[in-house]
Amino acid sequence: METKNQTTTKGHTHGHTNGNGHSNGISLSNATHKDIFTKCYEFNQHTKAQSLGLYPYFRRIDATMGNTVVCRGETKIMIGSNNYLGLAQDERVVEAAIEATRKYGSGCTGSRFLNGNIGLHEELEEALAKFLKRESVLLFSTGFFANQGALTALLEDNDAILCDRENHASIIDGCKASPAKTIPFAHNSADALRRRLKRLPETAGKFLVVDGVFSMSGDIVDLPAMQKVAKEYGCRVYVDEAHALGVLGPKGEGTVHHFGLNSEVDLMMGTFSKSLGSMGGFLAGSKPVIEYLRHKARCFMFTASLAPAVTGGVLKSLQLMQEEPERIEKLWKNTRKMHEGFKSLGFNIGTTQTPVVPILVGSEIKALHFAQKLFEAGIFATPAVFPAVRYGEAIIRTSYMATHTDDELDYVLETFAKIGKELGIFEDSAYLGGGKRRSSNGYDFDVQDENESQALREDSRNSPQA
Ligand SMILES: Cc1ncc(COP(=O)(O)O)c(C=O)c1O
Repeated sequence: METKNQTTTKGHTHGHTNGNGHSNGISLSNATHKDIFTKCYEFNQHTKAQSLGLYPYFRRIDATMGNTVVCRGETKIMIGSNNYLGLAQDERVVEAAIEATRKYGSGCTGSRFLNGNIGLHEELEEALAKFLKRESVLLFSTGFFANQGALTALLEDNDAILCDRENHASIIDGCKASPAKTIPFAHNSADALRRRLKRLPETAGKFLVVDGVFSMSGDIVDLPAMQKVAKEYGCRVYVDEAHALGVLGPKGEGTVHHFGLNSEVDLMMGTFSKSLGSMGGFLAGSKPVIEYLRHKARCFMFTASLAPAVTGGVLKSLQLMQEEPERIEKLWKNTRKMHEGFKSLGFNIGTTQTPVVPILVGSEIKALHFAQKLFEAGIFATPAVFPAVRYGEAIIRTSYMATHTDDELDYVLETFAKIGKELGIFEDSAYLGGGKRRSSNGYDFDVQDENESQALREDSRNSPQA
């Protein structure tokens, strides 16, 4: 008799294989029940891409200088990080992290709520509040948690989150975890926001949640228009400053300060994993709201606090960012060079206004080939495919740093031009008239057409490397 487990795993009668000959462990003791692992046993997108030499993720880095990294003995120009100001490798930041470790040890081994604050946590909260001209700041162990914490703790059953369709995954997941209803609206459209808000009853609490700089397209939120509409409808405003901190604003304070709207925005979220060169996140707002979150945000209360090395390093980065404004100036000089350079070569860089520069490639498979060819030519950049972007509009997501040299950036432009021509990306449907929408619930980098992949792969092997 054939059991249900046997049929759902394509006829493997003992254990499971995913078509690559790997055994995948223990069978369910009662094989008549649905096995939640079946999808894992059958998942082989990554091995398919790996076998074609096209898998672009989890690349091993053996050493990093920031603007360049060493991968298996080869130096690559890094245009796939968010280390905008190059502070992650700054000797003074590294020293501050070491000093903090010496003083407090390697970790806090628990949450601040129960296990106590170290002085550095409080110092960093005060320094950020002062820098952002906000009453109060609360640190989180990641930016992801900061978004999750705000969205789950502040909203209740009959409330509504007005969420830009291109908001970051951590916001989307925060919305899913929140008891409130999520109402998506067309990207960066104050009119769409108004249409959604109009339909909501006065009794519903309303929360507008937007990225300041959108992480894939690199465009800046139209905050003046959005905030005005939100105000009309009694809607609180929340801005995720992850890609804007250290990039926008007179001193790198972010989008809210860039638009001079500090008194109009209720809550700001930020992360230390980009310009400040480390990891962790924060919320900045009024004292009562931050105090409420300090006692209600479960992903703050029930997780270990930021490690001393992280906290000490971020404090130093924040200080250097303010003392060395030339970093932000150089970042913008490099950004302008790349915007103009890519456009003059005929690339479509969408609506970016920032150091996040997406290069439209089109089909998912071409994006994988493009990234592989870049890597072989000494450039580290990652493709973003559906659902991070629309299906058929895959990009190479590039981002620039204050520490990139002109020579490095010229080489990047030259190499993109060469590979773009080789792969014929300018003839892709996305260049000729837009991609197609498709729905899925995973990060889909499936190699759809193996013949096409093989042909392109051969082509890539035979073409001379730079
Ligand atoms: C817009 C945005 N928000 C939040 C996050 C999450 O930040 P973290 O890396 O600190 O978890 C990211 C990270 O990529 C992001 O791009």
